[in-house]
Amino acid sequence: MDRDDPAYAGQKDYSRALLNLYDPLVLGPIARFVWQCPTGGLLERYRRHIRPNHLDVGPGTGYFLDRSGLADGSPVSVLDPNRNVLGHVSRRLRRFDVTTVEADVLKPLPIAGPFESAALHLVIHCLPGPMSRKAAAVANIAAVLAPSGVLFGASVIGSSGRHNWIARRFLGAFNRQGAFDNLADSESGLREILEVSFERVELETIGGIALFAATGPRGTTPRPEPETRRGDTMGTPASRT
Ligand SMILES: C[S@@+](CC[C@H](N)C(=O)[O-])C[C@H]1O[C@@H](n2cnc3c(N)ncnc32)[C@H](O)[C@@H]1O
Repeated sequence: MDRDDPAYAGQKDYSRALLNLYDPLVLGPIARFVWQCPTGGLLERYRRHIRPNHLDVGPGTGYFLDRSGLADGSPVSVLDPNRNVLGHVSRRLRRFDVTTVEADVLKPLPIAGPFESAALHLVIHCLPGPMSRKAAAVANIAAVLAPSGVLFGASVIGSSGRHNWIARRFLGAFNRQGAFDNLADSESGLREILEVSFERVELETIGGIALFAATGPRGTTPRPEPETRRGDTMGTPASRT
């Protein structure tokens, strides 16, 4: 991704070192004590919504996919602009049939689908604001979901969230540093951008994190089979591992 792309900052920090620290640190004490949303609750919802033939946008370390309960050999596509992330996840998830796609969710996705489920899990707060710009991510995913498909995920709410003192310090620091761009993200704004692209939206909040599931992608029609094989290049690099 170009350094001058507005989305660059939200994905640039995922080095090998951070990916090794992410599960014990971010999904451990930071989720529990900073955002007050223990990972167990996130995982329970993730497992509830995921279906075979899944697309994971911004998979990070692949922690949730690894514990998703999907059967070995299941087809899973992972999409991320960061090559460290794609490498880490494809190594970790060797037991699935993984297709990696190097792409930015804010641009039309170079994959055809249709997918039965898609996760945008702890990603929206990393995307460049305002909320109206983040809406493109939701619309791009809706466009590759099956009519019966579900988009689910979670996102850290900005200043309007129910945050404790330490969470507000983290929010400020991450927004100054660029890893997050979410000070103006609100629960109602999240609902709005989901409702633009989906007929039904469920939203709940745990601590400072909003969790969502959206069904009935608007304007999707049955898509023809893509001419390229799954995992072929289709505009930007993608590989099947
Ligand atoms: C906070 S991590 C979340 C990881 C994982 N989904 C989880 O729930 O633990 C954010 C992920 O979003 C990815 N990301 C950031 N900006 C993105 C963009 N514009 N398009 C797609 N993925 C992006 C990052 O590279 C990283 O993998």
